[in-house]
Order: sequence, then structure tokens, then C-alpha cells
Amino acid sequence: MSDLDDLFEAAKAVREKAYAPYSNFLVGAAFRTPDGSVFTGCNVENASYPVSVCAEGGAVSAMIAAGQREIAEAVVIGDAALCTPCGICRQRFKEFGKDDLVVHVADLNGIKRSFTLDELLPAAFELEQKD
Ligand code: THU
Repeated sequence: MSDLDDLFEAAKAVREKAYAPYSNFLVGAAFRTPDGSVFTGCNVENASYPVSVCAEGGAVSAMIAAGQREIAEAVVIGDAALCTPCGICRQRFKEFGKDDLVVHVADLNGIKRSFTLDELLPAAFELEQKD
């Protein structure tokens, strides 16, 4: 299996762990970091809906807790035809990904589309100006 197949399988497996009794919409996210490590997260909802955390948020927490700071490649998998990351999660990717970071969007059968972070969040907000 390729590294991308592994990342897809990790996202698919963690999606099964999602706690989403309110939306019944299960999401999994898997990030690969530059050293080849893989971190995963699933959505965790709450009766007070805004308290819910997206799958990408869980994967970011796992990555940071392990001492890593860069997402090299990501897979997000959900029930929708095209489960693209929500706006808040695009900003999460911006914090830890370069503009050419590729985020693959998958359904249960495989990867459907791949986007660069710059495509997902053009003209993104950041505190440090790179130019
Ligand atoms: N969700 C994610 O986990 N990631 C996204 O990027 C899109 C939405 C979750 C949030 C909520 O638990 C459910 O999907 C339905 O919106």
C-alpha cells in the first residue's frame, strides 16, 4: 500500500470512532507529518452544539501533543458526496500547513478530490507576512 492508501485507511478507521449523535454525520481526519508519523481525529459533538469539535481539530491536538508542528498531507473522510473541510478547519490547516499542502477529500470508497490549502483558503489570514 502507498503512503496515501495508509492515510486513507487511518482516516476511515478513526471515522468509525466519531461521536456524532446529533448530526449522525461521522467524519475522520488523518494527517501525515514530515517524518512520516500519522495522527488522526474524529468529530466529537456535544448537546450544546457549538462545543462540538471537528475531526480535523482532534487530529491537530494529537499532532501538537506529540510535539509535531507541520501537516505534510491530509485525508478527510465523511458521509457527504464531497466532505470538504469547514471554514474553521481550513484556518486550522493554515496554521500548520504550507500553501501547497494537499488535503484529500474522501468518501468510504476512496479519495474523490484533492485540493491544495491555497485552493481551500485563498488570501488567508496570517499574522506574519511572508513577503
Ligand atoms: N465536521 C467535521 O468534523 N469536519 C469538517 O470539516 C466538516 C464538519 C463535523 C462537524 C459535525 O460534527 C458534523 O461534521 C456535521 O456538521
